[in-house]
Amino acid sequence: MSNTPLRHLAIIMDGNGRWAAQRGLKRTKGHEKGAEVIRDITAYCAKHSTIETATFYAFSTENWKRPKIEIDFLMKMLDRYLMEELPSYQEQGVAFRAIGDLNAFSKSLQQRILDTQEQTKNNTNLMQILALNYGGRAEITAAVNKLIQDGKKMLTQEDISSALQTPYADIDLLIRTSGEQRISNFLLWQASYSEFYFTPTLWPDFTTSELEKILLNYHQRTRRFGGI
Ligand code: IPE
Ligand code: IPE
Ligand code: MG
Repeated sequence: MSNTPLRHLAIIMDGNGRWAAQRGLKRTKGHEKGAEVIRDITAYCAKHSTIETATFYAFSTENWKRPKIEIDFLMKMLDRYLMEELPSYQEQGVAFRAIGDLNAFSKSLQQRILDTQEQTKNNTNLMQILALNYGGRAEITAAVNKLIQDGKKMLTQEDISSALQTPYADIDLLIRTSGEQRISNFLLWQASYSEFYFTPTLWPDFTTSELEKILLNYHQRTRRFGGI
């Protein structure tokens, strides 16, 4: 058994475009299928007692480099996802939170995000965090600037941790789909001692049964945190 329970799961959902290309479909079809997988995995995590927080990387600060048409599609899809998801969030006891710089989004999407956070904030089975226009370096830089504005001259690690947008435990397990083995500017600070799991499965093909296998693998690991 791993010596720490799995409280915080983080996922880099990658491979939507390749999934679509393999089927001769537009990349956007891969994103649509990917959104369904977020639903399934969230529902599973809400039922799975030890997982308190599931953070999904949905849009990075670097994803603005993509064609405008794909970005516009992703924004519309996010808005629709949150609208359609609200009844499930309430039924499954899921509190929704967003991390990332939301100022870059349209006013109506920002409002949808804030409303969904507000309406689900008392749910306690799971916190589902979507990382939206998120970058680990941007998050750390913003935290340090906030502390400077507060008048701090010397910072402790605790100061930085508490000034991050992510006021929750470190990541226990970080999964990346699609076979790429990199962090792509995801939760740099919070992943400092997380376990990593890379699977070749493309995100639209990811299932709860694969997640269960990965969780078993996690629980067989020994986390030493620098000890012996
Ligand atoms: C992940 O899938 C979704 C986002 C980054 C929005 P990709 O769109 O990166 O799919 P690939 O990596 O091109 O296959
Ligand atoms: C990482 O995937 C970002 C998200 C999953 C949102 P990318 O597809 O953007 O990452 P790279 O460019 O392959 O590193
Ligand atoms: Mg990708």
